[in-house]
Amino acid sequence: MCGIVGYVGPRRADEILLEGLRRLEYRGYDSAGLATLTPDGQFHVAKSVGRINALAEKIAAAPLAGTTGIGHTRWATHGAPTEANAHPHFGVARDSVAGSPAVVAWSPDHATGATAGLQKVRGQETLAQPAALRDASISRSEMPTLALAHNGVIENYLPLKEKLLAEGYQFSSSTDTEVIAHLIVRSLAKMEARRSEFPADEPYAVVLAAVTHALGKLRGTYGLVILFREHPELIVAARQGSPLVVGVGQGEHFVASDASPLAGRTGKIVYLADHQIALVTADSLEVRHREHGRIEHLVHDLAASETDVDLGGYPHYMLKEIFEQPEAIENALRGRLNDQHATAVFGGLNLTPQQLRGASRILLTACGTSWHAALVGEYLIEELARIPVEVEYASELRYRNPPLEPGTLLFAITQSGETADTLAALREIKRKGHPTLALCNVVGSTIAQEADGGVYLHAGPEIGVASTKAYASQVFTLAMLALYFGRLRHLSFEAGQRIIAQLRQLPDRLRQTLDVHAAVRRIAAKYCHATNFLYLGRQYNFPTALEGALKLKEISYIHAEGYPAAEMKHGPIALVDEHTPSVFIMPQGSVYDKVMSNLEEIKARGGPVIAIAPEGDRAVARLADDVIYVPRVEEFLSPLVNIIPLQLLAYHIAILRGCDVDRPRNLAKSVTVE
Ligand code: F6R
Repeated sequence: MCGIVGYVGPRRADEILLEGLRRLEYRGYDSAGLATLTPDGQFHVAKSVGRINALAEKIAAAPLAGTTGIGHTRWATHGAPTEANAHPHFGVARDSVAGSPAVVAWSPDHATGATAGLQKVRGQETLAQPAALRDASISRSEMPTLALAHNGVIENYLPLKEKLLAEGYQFSSSTDTEVIAHLIVRSLAKMEARRSEFPADEPYAVVLAAVTHALGKLRGTYGLVILFREHPELIVAARQGSPLVVGVGQGEHFVASDASPLAGRTGKIVYLADHQIALVTADSLEVRHREHGRIEHLVHDLAASETDVDLGGYPHYMLKEIFEQPEAIENALRGRLNDQHATAVFGGLNLTPQQLRGASRILLTACGTSWHAALVGEYLIEELARIPVEVEYASELRYRNPPLEPGTLLFAITQSGETADTLAALREIKRKGHPTLALCNVVGSTIAQEADGGVYLHAGPEIGVASTKAYASQVFTLAMLALYFGRLRHLSFEAGQRIIAQLRQLPDRLRQTLDVHAAVRRIAAKYCHATNFLYLGRQYNFPTALEGALKLKEISYIHAEGYPAAEMKHGPIALVDEHTPSVFIMPQGSVYDKVMSNLEEIKARGGPVIAIAPEGDRAVARLADDVIYVPRVEEFLSPLVNIIPLQLLAYHIAILRGCDVDRPRNLAKSVTVE
């Protein structure tokens, strides 16, 4: 949620930052901005509402000078998506305002003017605030002291803002971020007054002390990049609960909220941890702990697959990622199936087989699509390993304080590894002394770092806001875990071998499933004008129904509900009429006949039916209006083939309705706020 990028080096910063923002746009896309700093201490800024293209047009018309800069793409939390609220924000010393500092009244509407706080100078928007800057002959002391971009939420920003207003600081936005800018300016003034106490040979000692002092006043989360007018060669980066990485180049450094802007720029990465502050110049990187001083940082190699964000000829990331699912599964299973012992192997669980054997209960926690994967995991683990499983929304678990018996093992399931609720739930269960494991896609993410151990999905970057291939990898990895736990317990060698063979076949089955594409497109055209959809499935495919409905609603804005098929009689059937399609997921297996009866009940009430059924099922064709045939697989793997036509159906309906499938309204990838 929100993307940050920073650059310091010999090249033009605006081009590099813009390119970085394009790669981060999936994290938030309601407004964006850049600020650069030239060696003479001049800030240059461009902001725009909407997608990065709008910002790119501005910069093409009036490039920003400077080889040091920061950029941000925003998903609004505090204040509407306006230019005034777009980052970077500026910290201005109180005494730089002409005359006595006036207290500016503010309200959520205060900064909704499109260019509040910005002036046009030489065709370029430059600086924020104060009135004195309208004078072309501004003195250096009237320039903002700093510019910053922020990811996260400052929970105590209101009292801080009131205090700063009372002291004479002026605000030009409704964001929580601007308080950080002014707080640092205020701390800087305090530290400047004590300059003689700081070591003369540490050029950034005062700035560092000011940042540390100001951050101490904040409650909440932040990933921050800051430019200081007095140090045009420096970016300060600070992290607390919101990810930041530093890319290490040759005579240049990059800062970003995830690795994607580093693609093609550098293969060396440093993951900052909470409480760390980095001092970044073109030639140096120093990492400090807020309390314990200088620390050694590790430089990791960045796998090319972690930054592969090209569209590869597809019109949208979502479609590309749907088609990447066979490969994602191959990556998830590589090296993890052991024929000799007929089990799965995982390198990073960091628990002994004895500890894992002793797990008396497994708690799966997640949000959204990952929560749906957890629901499939519940069926898989209970059936294959006979261990009781509970699935909890992370947002509920974190506050529920459930009684947890000894032997409870937590798995947090998350694509991004940054979801705020999932992270908080993991921390809470860890605090209670239970082992915590993560199923996570993004390498080096906060949850991956904080869990006691875990399994990486290796699905590659997922850019489309609607999760597709990460879901498939999560479900598949849960199936491998179910095999592993099953083999630790009652599952026989032969049963283990059979399951391994079925797992190995799955990528090919998924490739065959993707052949439904053209058929699904035709069906989408028939139903794209409907305003309500029901998705119905049972057992393993009840979560498939939930996930199919979520895909449709999040990218096409059509109301869709997923239900266990039989539950439909307890209320939702009232919605059924000739305009409300029901999508039935009906693999051959334990509940096939039951689902067929539910389908008949819908047909008896005149509702159109789209069925997802295994090849060769002619019975369903007699009843359903449209059938999408998928390859036959064992029931426990059927959620993985059945979800593909549902992802494609959502995709094509959304396209036919003119929706932006990769960047649906109001959403963003990686929900780092509660
Ligand atoms: C929906 C979707 C979201 C995420 C949810 C959790 O398509 O992508 O519902 O699944 O925000 O995100 P992660 O898995 O990153 O924790």
